[in-house]
Amino acid sequence: MNPELALLQPYPFEKLSTLLEGIKPADKSRIALSVGEPKHDAPQFVLDALVESLRGLQNYPATRGSEELRQSIANWLCKRFQLTNPEILAASQILPVNGTREALFAIAQCVLDRSASARDVLMPNPFYQIYEGATLLAGCRPAFYNITANADEDILSITDKQFEQCQLFYLCNPGNPTGCVLSQAGLTHLIEKAHAHNFHIVSDECYSEIYREVAGAPVGLLQAAHAMGNTDYTRCLVFHSLSKRSNLPGMRSGFIAGDQSVIAQFLLYRTYHGCSMAPPIQHASAIAWQDEKHVAANRAAYDEKYASVVKLLQPVMDVSTPDAGFYLWPELPMEDTLFTQRILQEQNVTVVPGSYLGREQNGLNPGAGHVRLALVAKPEECLDAANRIVSVLQA
Ligand SMILES: Cc1ncc(COP(=O)(O)O)c(C=O)c1O
Repeated sequence: MNPELALLQPYPFEKLSTLLEGIKPADKSRIALSVGEPKHDAPQFVLDALVESLRGLQNYPATRGSEELRQSIANWLCKRFQLTNPEILAASQILPVNGTREALFAIAQCVLDRSASARDVLMPNPFYQIYEGATLLAGCRPAFYNITANADEDILSITDKQFEQCQLFYLCNPGNPTGCVLSQAGLTHLIEKAHAHNFHIVSDECYSEIYREVAGAPVGLLQAAHAMGNTDYTRCLVFHSLSKRSNLPGMRSGFIAGDQSVIAQFLLYRTYHGCSMAPPIQHASAIAWQDEKHVAANRAAYDEKYASVVKLLQPVMDVSTPDAGFYLWPELPMEDTLFTQRILQEQNVTVVPGSYLGREQNGLNPGAGHVRLALVAKPEECLDAANRIVSVLQA
């Protein structure tokens, strides 16, 4: 067996099952705030497009994706992030992927050089655990930077010595679990560091469309690169997904875009990997990227839930509405694992302890004392869950 498999940590949900083993949940309906799976309805016109294109299953799809899909993504990128040259983007700077999870993993296998002396991969802490697994299986070393409520400060506090050891930088923007957003100045700083210290940036932007209307749309990495004159996006890659934007997590559809030289190598890697996207999914995805109406409605639904849930929770815990994403990341007046057990036992609500999303650094886990609450369920269920949390903390 590959000895690096033994380096992988159990996934947070595996740890959660162990934590909750043997606990008898309260005799109430289960409300899951644990898994970040959108429960809003998928857009009907996308489902229709999928069904109408089932005949496409008769053909082998190309790994680089159909012209229709790449053009649709290129147009979306240009409009959303104020980029130019959609033809160049579609021709050489975009690749469809089967959800960003597989691509966030695969990119590390493609770009990392395990024989180099600098083998660090910088990543946030707490974080999406795929970054760590991908790094370990590519023979490199996860190096964490702690994240707080101020994404710019987090990036600015990384030293040149840390950047010098770095081959690849995983940025999660907007952040999971914090929902914090890095400003254009913060992104520009990071791109400058990537040039100065010779590393690539992978910007996981799968929550970029789930922003609070009052906060406005987050700036993307390619947008920042373009604005500073890096119009071929050297060292920059963004990862986008239909899972959260369009409530289609089961469709497994996303894309990566940016630096043409990396995209070309990634295409080569993926050709061997054999992970092309099924033709009906490609067609339905092209249709989904062309529509913004359903995305705005989705945002409005999250905005409403945040307004009511945060108002209820604020008197009992330190919690605020993040600029983006669909999580709450409150600080608790008790241990996160204990709270997680009690809220199941007393109220049949599932949450994720913050410490399970982080790694201990110098004796401290930056996730400890927090829980992650995914506001993905219907509004009435989220409100019900908030009331149940209040009753546990008041008791
Ligand atoms: C931070 C982050 N990145 C990437 C993903 C993967 O999304 P998908 O593979 O559905 O595109 C998720 C899913 O929860 C996530 O939270």
